[in-house]
Amino acid sequence: MPIEFTLNGAPCRVPTRPGESLLETLRERCGIGSLKDGCSPQGQCGCCLALIDGHPKVTCAMPAAAAEGKTIVTLEGVAAGERDLIARAFAAAAGLQCGFCIPGIALRAKHLTDKNPDPSRAEIARAIDVHLCRCTGYVKIVDAIALLARAKRGEPLPEPCAEGRVGSSLARYRAAAYTVGERDYVDDLTRPGMLHGAVVLSPHPRAKVVRVDTTRARAHPGVVAVATAADVPGERWYGLIYPDWPGFVAAGEEVRCVGDVLAAVAAVDRHTARQAAQLVDVEYEVLTPVLDPAAALAPAAPRVNPRHENRLSHSVIRRGDVDAALARSAHVVSGTWTTQRIEHCYLEPESALAEPLPGGRLGLYTQGQGVFDDRRQVATFLGVSEDRISVELVPNGGAFGGKEDMSVQAQTALLAHLSRRPVKLTLSREESIRLHPKRHPITMRYTVGCDADGRLTAVKARMLGDSGAYASVGGKVLERAAGHACGPYRVPHVDVEAIAAYTNNPPCGAMRGFGANQAHFAIEGCMDLLARHAGLDAWEMRWRNALQVGDTFSTGQVLEKSVGIKRTLAAVRDRYFEAKHQGRAVGIACGLKNSGIGNGAEEWGKARLVVESDGTVSLYNGYTEMGQGLLTVLIQFAVEVTGLPATLFRPKVDSTYALGCGQTTGSRATMFGGRAVMTAAAKLRTDLDAGRTLTELAGREYAADVVTNDTTALGAPVAKVKTHTSFGYATQVCILDEQGRVERFIAAHDVGRAVNPALCEGQIEGSIHMGLGYALTEELPCVNGMPATFKLRELGVLRARDMPAVEVILVEEPEPEGPLGAKGVGEIGLVPTAAAVAGALEAYDGVRRTTLPMKDSPAARAMSVGRIRSG
Ligand code: FES
Ligand code: FES
Repeated sequence: MPIEFTLNGAPCRVPTRPGESLLETLRERCGIGSLKDGCSPQGQCGCCLALIDGHPKVTCAMPAAAAEGKTIVTLEGVAAGERDLIARAFAAAAGLQCGFCIPGIALRAKHLTDKNPDPSRAEIARAIDVHLCRCTGYVKIVDAIALLARAKRGEPLPEPCAEGRVGSSLARYRAAAYTVGERDYVDDLTRPGMLHGAVVLSPHPRAKVVRVDTTRARAHPGVVAVATAADVPGERWYGLIYPDWPGFVAAGEEVRCVGDVLAAVAAVDRHTARQAAQLVDVEYEVLTPVLDPAAALAPAAPRVNPRHENRLSHSVIRRGDVDAALARSAHVVSGTWTTQRIEHCYLEPESALAEPLPGGRLGLYTQGQGVFDDRRQVATFLGVSEDRISVELVPNGGAFGGKEDMSVQAQTALLAHLSRRPVKLTLSREESIRLHPKRHPITMRYTVGCDADGRLTAVKARMLGDSGAYASVGGKVLERAAGHACGPYRVPHVDVEAIAAYTNNPPCGAMRGFGANQAHFAIEGCMDLLARHAGLDAWEMRWRNALQVGDTFSTGQVLEKSVGIKRTLAAVRDRYFEAKHQGRAVGIACGLKNSGIGNGAEEWGKARLVVESDGTVSLYNGYTEMGQGLLTVLIQFAVEVTGLPATLFRPKVDSTYALGCGQTTGSRATMFGGRAVMTAAAKLRTDLDAGRTLTELAGREYAADVVTNDTTALGAPVAKVKTHTSFGYATQVCILDEQGRVERFIAAHDVGRAVNPALCEGQIEGSIHMGLGYALTEELPCVNGMPATFKLRELGVLRARDMPAVEVILVEEPEPEGPLGAKGVGEIGLVPTAAAVAGALEAYDGVRRTTLPMKDSPAARAMSVGRIRSG
């Protein structure tokens, strides 16, 4: 049925189908790219905001028919001068990271500042309440909107930092395009003749697949291809560590979780593909699922995954004689700490586009955290050599570890292969939550001792994590939890075991912090308990035990450099004691997080600088931009070395060169990627210093592949233990108000070298936002293996009005193995957060909470999100 409306000043008459949302009409029929789909049809993220008759409305929850006769304005229709002002305000304030949420917020900002020329920060926070941002913690978004308001009142915007050397807050690469919605994410890409894909997921966590019948789906009008396990020409099973995850579950096999894919459909449009997917008939023989990791380890438990026993991993650290040390200790505390499964909740759901290329090759556009791993796995799946597939990263709308594993790349590639047409497949929010790995729930039993002066004597810990149906990197997460079990403290006697178990729950894998968050919640809780026994202040307890150069880390590694934990403690000291003396409820926690995977992994930074004929320099690297600002800081390293202006560099991540570095994980991309860029840039600098111009150098390539391979595996019998290249350190302070709400957070972080201070702060602010959700409101419980909710608001991610004031203190303790002293900052921001909140809550009401999220607390009750009502 056609509807008529005015869109950005022009009359429109477009056909619609019954039930079509206005978002679908505007994106798919009118080509409006500034509206993004983060959660349709929930109406809970704000990414699809438009002005309708002058009012801001989310368009995914609005039937297209309701737009009849309306006047619709999107960012595309905002006057060029104002668009430019909005873009410059967000760039100047560093008010964006992955950018996926930003166009919706930018339009909201325009509307707000039109109506209220001088909004307060609280008014801004309230105005953007509909909008979810998973990256920024909203701090710099509010800054940007305040800046925009001032600019609209005639005040000049700050000049953007253009020089871009290391240490300057160079504006994020392509910040303006991100802000006004001109930067394409995968789901924004189109190709002539492109088909749309949809997947069929298992409704059961464990069942035998008796039959997969695609007859009705194939007959559906508009369907071009249907794929099942029988159509996979190559190896159907993939996985980052173990190939235990089938791209399609075949008849005769078991489904192992509610994210398992049975079939995929390609059709002329997304709606038809989804309709047809519902016509795939799957017959199941339902089996009793294994839902508890402890039960999974019982001898008689059914095997969850045919490729591996139920005990996925067992990590052990033993140093000294723990039992004897505990027996000698003046004070000993014990307890069990439990953490929850949570959803990454990146705003951009998974999407891939595959297209046949001349010569029988295939092009793959992916948002993965390791595009070369994606290429390798897709090639194996299709049974072709890797060089038959060209891959390109489309910088994603958030990942946080959840886009390390394959999502829909293989199925999309197969549909393109079968149909011989371009195919794009984008998951709905519900499908995304069902399919990708989550943060591990871990149960941790701790016993920790100290002497009469509060000096730690021994740590004994037993950890059990629920890794769900597939290995993903779950074994490594528990290994990392074991390695971080003692926190940033000197502990002479250590006895830690960590087990990851398969279950029929959704898989768990990498998520920002990677096991360190869970371990710190427990060990920092023990530190508070021991401080009380020893009669010490919590700050003093940490100061006495904090690692220094020359101390031994829990894994046995002697720390030789860049140990900034004491400097971060010193940085918060005055504020911490001042708040305590004012009678406030205050919590403090420390943390460390490895920078670089380590544990014996060979790690690479790879870069190519190519001088182009137009005078620009292409900067190729192998790591993924996912909002953390990697491409911007790599430009800064190149600027620092070559002296060329930042505007000349064009970052690219694709398979033009063999730059596979594995996953963008372990807070390592800045460290290893930066080293490679600096090495390549030094070669270019040599030519420039010889008097050659860029015009003369057009076509020249400058290459650097830099390897780090001197770390040792956990528990390896080596003379010199070095489990990690580097660590970031942090101390965080949580201050509550008189009602027990989180009022203020102070975060001091040793970042080695702040390559871009504004981006650094943004990483930490965003992490604290994520950490507060983890502490208080976020969880993804499952009922019989199925997530209990798919609604963003119920997942508990904090809204702008829930955020406390955040003060970030950057401490620079240079890392000699990092580029110009830098080390990773992407993960550590939320490692100590939950423990700091727990300490503050205990100071407030005397209750020591050992289970996350701490929903029974006044701080959690004060939040606007997090109550699951879906049942
Ligand atoms: S996509 Fe419309 S509110 Fe999320
Ligand atoms: S910048 Fe807001 S979701 Fe990424």
